[in-house]
Amino acid sequence: MRRVIILGSTGSIGTQTIDVITRLNRIGYDFEIVGLGAGHNIERLSQQVAAVRPRVVCVAEESGRDELARRFPDLEIVVGEDGLLVLVRTDDVDIVVNALVGAIGLPPTLVALEQGRTVALANKESLVVGGELVKTVLADHGGTIVPIDSEHSALLQALSAGKREEVRRLVITASGGPFLRTPLVELDRVRPEDALHHPNWNMGTRITIDSATMVNKAFEVIEAHYLFGIPYDHIEPVIHPASVVHSLVEYRDGSVIAQLAPPDMRIPIQYALVYPHRPDTELPRLDLTAVGPLTFAPLDHARYPAFDAVLFAAERGGTAPAVANAADEVLVTRFLAGEIPFTAIARGIAAALAGWTDDAPLTLAAVRAADRWARTVARKYTP
Ligand SMILES: NC(=O)c1ccc[n+]([C@@H]2O[C@H](COP(=O)([O-])OP(=O)(O)OC[C@H]3O[C@@H](n4cnc5c(N)ncnc54)[C@H](OP(=O)(O)O)[C@@H]3O)[C@@H](O)[C@H]2O)c1
Repeated sequence: MRRVIILGSTGSIGTQTIDVITRLNRIGYDFEIVGLGAGHNIERLSQQVAAVRPRVVCVAEESGRDELARRFPDLEIVVGEDGLLVLVRTDDVDIVVNALVGAIGLPPTLVALEQGRTVALANKESLVVGGELVKTVLADHGGTIVPIDSEHSALLQALSAGKREEVRRLVITASGGPFLRTPLVELDRVRPEDALHHPNWNMGTRITIDSATMVNKAFEVIEAHYLFGIPYDHIEPVIHPASVVHSLVEYRDGSVIAQLAPPDMRIPIQYALVYPHRPDTELPRLDLTAVGPLTFAPLDHARYPAFDAVLFAAERGGTAPAVANAADEVLVTRFLAGEIPFTAIARGIAAALAGWTDDAPLTLAAVRAADRWARTVARKYTP
C-alpha cells in the first residue's frame, strides 16, 4: 500500500495524477489517495472526493470549506496555506504529489521533505524560488524528490546511463511555444487566446503563457540545476518544436542519451509515482514513423528575452528568483486581462529585478517579502 497526498488535485497535473493512480490500481498496484489539496474549484474537488474518498482535504477559502462540508459532512477539511501544511503532515503518507501552481508550493515541499517523505514534484516554483532551502532540507532530513516535469523526468532517466562526473552538459528541449515563427514586430499585438494555444501540450494557464515567453524554460534550467547538481553553464535549452525528445544528457565521451515519448504528462507522472519501475498502463505509444522530422535549433534570445531575465535572477541568487517569479505571475495575469501587451511580461520582469536591491540571505520569510514586493511593483508596472 502506498499512501498519497495530491496538492493541486483540481489542476491539470492533479487530475492527470488521479487518472494515473486509477490505471495503476487497475493493474494490481495499491495506491490510496489519503488527502487532496485544491484552491477554489469546489465542483471539481467534490467530484474527486466522491470518487477517491480521501480522509482529509484542503481548500483555499472558508467559503469553500462551508460548501464542501455541506456536501460531505464527515470529511475532515482544512483551509488555506496552513491547511496545506496540515495535509502534508498527515500520518502514514508515503508520497506527496505537489502540483500546486506558484510560490505557495514551496512551504509544503519543505515540510514534506522534513518529514522524510518522497515528493513527486510538479510545482517548479519550489525549486525556482527556494532551491537553496530545499537543498538544505534534503541534506538535513533525507526526503526524496522525484521530478514530474517531462524534461526533468527525461534527464533523470538519461542520467542513469552514466556517472555524474561523466556528464558534459544537460540539454533541455523547448517547443518554442505558439510564437516560434511569429515575426518579432508582431509580438506586441498577439492576443491572450493565441498565447493560450500551446502547439503540443494542454496545461494550466500560467505555464502555458510561461511557455510562450520561455520563462518556463528558464525555470526548468533552475530546476535541473538543483535536482541534478549541474552548474548553470552546463545546462542548455534547445528548440525542438515536436516535443517528442523531452531532454538529453551529453556525456564526456561524446555519447548523447535522450528520452522520447508522446507529449502526454501522464507518462512522467507515472514514472515519478512508481520510480524506477515501468508498468504497462496503456498510455499512448510513440509511433516513430508517424512523428515526422525531429528538428533542433538554438534558442533565439531576441525572441525570448524573459528567458535571460529569469536566468539572470537565478545567477544572482538569494531572493531574486522569487522576485522574477512573483512579477511574472502578476504580469501574466495582467496580459490575460488585456491590460498589458505580451512583450511587457519580459520587460516587467527585468524592471522588477532592476529595482530589487535586497541581498538578504535566503529564508522563507525573505522569499515571502520579496514575493510581496514584486507583486506590488508588477501591478503598477506601466510598459
Ligand atoms: N500542466 C502541465 O503539463 C505541467 C507540466 C510540468 C510542470 N507543471 C507545473 O506543475 C504545477 C501545476 O501546473 P498545472 O498546469 O497543473 O496548474 P493548474 O492547472 O493551474 O492547477 C493548479 C492547481 O493549484 C491549485 N491552487 C492554485 N492556487 C492555490 C491556492 N492558493 N491554494 C491551494 N491550491 C491552489 C489549483 O486549485 P483550483 O483550481 O481549485 O483553484 C489547482 O489545483 C506548476 O508549477 C506548473 O509549472 C505543469
